[in-house]
Amino acid sequence: MFSKEVYIERRRKLLAKMASVLDEGKRGIALFIGNVEAPAQYKDNCYNFRQDSSWLYYFGLDAPRYAAVLDFDSGEEVIFADDVEIGDIIWMGPQPSIQSLAESVGVKKSAPYAALDGVVKKALALGRKVHFLPPSRYYNTMKLASLTGWSNEEVSKNAPEGKASLELVKAVISMRLVKEDCEIEELDKVGDIGYEMHTVARNNIVPGVIEQEIVGKMEGLTLSKGWGVSFPTILTQHGETLHNHYHDKLIEPGNLMVIDAGAESNMHYASDNTRTYPTSGKYSSRQADVYNIVLECNDFAFSMVRPGITYREVHIATSRVMLERLKALDIVRGDLDSMVEEGIAGLFMPHGLGHNMGLDVHDMEDFGEDLVGYDDDQRRADKLGLGNLRMARRLKPGYVITDEPGIYFIPALIEKWKKEGTGKGFVNYDKLLTYYDFGGIRIEDDVLVTPTGARRLGSKRLPATVREIEELMRRQ
Ligand code: GLY
Ligand code: MN
Repeated sequence: MFSKEVYIERRRKLLAKMASVLDEGKRGIALFIGNVEAPAQYKDNCYNFRQDSSWLYYFGLDAPRYAAVLDFDSGEEVIFADDVEIGDIIWMGPQPSIQSLAESVGVKKSAPYAALDGVVKKALALGRKVHFLPPSRYYNTMKLASLTGWSNEEVSKNAPEGKASLELVKAVISMRLVKEDCEIEELDKVGDIGYEMHTVARNNIVPGVIEQEIVGKMEGLTLSKGWGVSFPTILTQHGETLHNHYHDKLIEPGNLMVIDAGAESNMHYASDNTRTYPTSGKYSSRQADVYNIVLECNDFAFSMVRPGITYREVHIATSRVMLERLKALDIVRGDLDSMVEEGIAGLFMPHGLGHNMGLDVHDMEDFGEDLVGYDDDQRRADKLGLGNLRMARRLKPGYVITDEPGIYFIPALIEKWKKEGTGKGFVNYDKLLTYYDFGGIRIEDDVLVTPTGARRLGSKRLPATVREIEELMRRQ
């Protein structure tokens, strides 16, 4: 955990933010619900426990079955959880009292978990507003529904369609987006675990090995240094499938292998990096041509990142560079500005340039992608590519984003565009026929927006150039 002052200050800031948007005397209470254990089969055999990220942010306590109420009118704070009894002690050993744990994060009062019900019902009976975040887990949905009497559907959605508090969601987003120094330190540390994880992966790419063996080795590294992986590892010789989670293929020479993987620290901060390696240790000249375009896009996007620019602008400018280089390969033809305008880049990069990252690898997307990734005056585009951009906001110091351009040749998508006449006159479909077996390339780094520009997280950047990678793979 961070020091208790960190949590006290965060809750103080939240109170002040809510006070600035809600009427005095009618602010109501906020209800925070931590995660519970999730049984894998029977109740005593659970998945590795992962605490709710907003709970961690405001209350730090990394154990199941906690809740808290913050009274936005009186300022009172109470943590609800149960002390262990002899039955628990036999199986889990002695545990600190809930009161002492509450005090360790600066909360003065605690109460049994079951007492939460009466507190929420009383607040509702008095006509007080009960603020809560949209739940990311099904237990929390049911718990909120039973506490409030609203339906699962109602508690799952933000107001006005549902009952989750838009004011609270916006206040939490505004705080969690701007990483504090102690969080940046954690993100740098987990960036270093991610570096080691990818190094293990790169060193184990050998034709004849099953992909799963590499996945096991790299995930083992994250478990030996932190909490585990920050999302299910993507490791595939079919990188044109963006989130390919099958790892059952034999590594064949001559392929490209996309490895998109991240670690989660013991404090639950994420890393998320992608590299694309030649399975034979050397890129073919056709692979290197496309690889260098993606790398140029990654570097170009990074060079644009600074406070004040929107990530939407960075995405669009990067798409332009990508199209300019694809034009040089005669894969697209015509006027660059028109191609950008028509969204032709979406055929090659159907995803956005990046997303927010922090306690979650896609930070806070459980609150609603547009709320976390878009400013109030921005609207999501409807085109493939730009329309899939998860983070479009105007950048501020302390934001942490991924920079992950990619070029993919997806035969089914190319055929669809061809059939429907999309990109007609711009896309050289005849040339593309020769890329149907190419696969895909993605290169991803994690980036911190600084007061003057940007820096990559972790103490060193994962090797990224063709020369660096080929040299390292030659030596392994
Ligand atoms: N690295 C996985 C993702 O960004 O979706
Ligand atoms: Mn990512």
